[in-house]
Amino acid sequence: MELKRMETCIKSVTIQMPVLIPNLLNDHRELSLAHLALGFISMGYVWQEGQHAPAQVLPKALAVPYWLISRRLGLPPILTYADSVLSNWKLRDPTGNMDLIFSFPGGESCRGFFIVSLLVELAASSGIGALEVMHAMKSSDVAGIQNGLVKVTQSLKKMKETFKLMHSKFKLNLSPWRDNPMLPNGLLYEGVSTEPMFLSGGSAAQSSAIQCFDALLCIQHEDETGKDKMFPGKAVIYSFFLKVFFLDYMPPAHCQLIETLSARPSLRDLILSCSSSDLCQAYNSCVSAMVDLRSYHLYAVQKYIIGPGNHTMGCPLRGVGTMLNDKGTGGSNLMGFLKGVCNTTKKALISEVWPV
Ligand code: HEM
Repeated sequence: MELKRMETCIKSVTIQMPVLIPNLLNDHRELSLAHLALGFISMGYVWQEGQHAPAQVLPKALAVPYWLISRRLGLPPILTYADSVLSNWKLRDPTGNMDLIFSFPGGESCRGFFIVSLLVELAASSGIGALEVMHAMKSSDVAGIQNGLVKVTQSLKKMKETFKLMHSKFKLNLSPWRDNPMLPNGLLYEGVSTEPMFLSGGSAAQSSAIQCFDALLCIQHEDETGKDKMFPGKAVIYSFFLKVFFLDYMPPAHCQLIETLSARPSLRDLILSCSSSDLCQAYNSCVSAMVDLRSYHLYAVQKYIIGPGNHTMGCPLRGVGTMLNDKGTGGSNLMGFLKGVCNTTKKALISEVWPV
């Protein structure tokens, strides 16, 4: 009863709050922090009365500044991976230990999910060897390409080892307002539009790290998953997901990096044409490390989503709509999609055909 009164009170306070215009926020850091804060508050507002009674309208005190800030950042007005993981950290002490800025309810186990994701990103950043590969390709410097690929492989292996630190389990409602049976009419952003918005939630698939490595290594998922009979009529399922659920929810600079990597001449073709066994092995080691990482990811999805039956809620790192939220099918859509992606990664391996 007390709780009910408190919820009603929070609702009416939020509705009466003044609409703040975020003109004084200047740099990317301030805007990102504001986007993160508004994302957390909005999620809390929508789901404050539990998963069966979400709010249908985001009051203008939240909706208007959220919309304005989102436009400036090029992000959607919903909590994304860029918010809850990439912007959500601070240094706890001068030695470099990190902590979250905003924590969800759920204590240490919840904190672990976000911190480990952040550490996986950190491990990915040492894959900056990717840039070395690109430079070396310009001058056909085989040794340079090879060195760069070795660094990328090390980074991918470190990502997998770091990923293994994830042990927590918890249930948390960060459900989005797209393909959500509890919000079939989406969410109305008061003062922004008279039409409701349908937005997907944050997913680690919105991390650009793995997509960048895919682009560098010329791992293309469209054709293979297109042949898959899992979603009849959806010929390019991976690119559909990539665009609609992943790229549109990434910071624009991250999409730009993926595009730049995808647009440059093919590394795989170059390796096929230069018949260097060492180079081929360096490339294959990279691809194998990607396969290992994706296989471990599959194991994690089984452990945290399929096993416990958390198809619609429970894991803050998944945000895709009903197509993959396949309650009642034992998670076969989701696992089929992720296995397909893993298999196409394997297909990029080059079998050496030239004499050594
Ligand atoms: C226990 C932790 C994790 C779980 C349960 C999980 C779950 C999922 C799920 C369910 C999907 C399908 C798309 C969706 O529903 O959003 C997905 C896709 C994906 N996730 Fe994760 N994820 C986890 C951690 C991570 C981490 C740490 C990364 C990397 C930073 C990552 C990167 C990806 C990528 C790139 C995809 C797209 C498919 C692909 O390209 O392989 N995930 N994940």
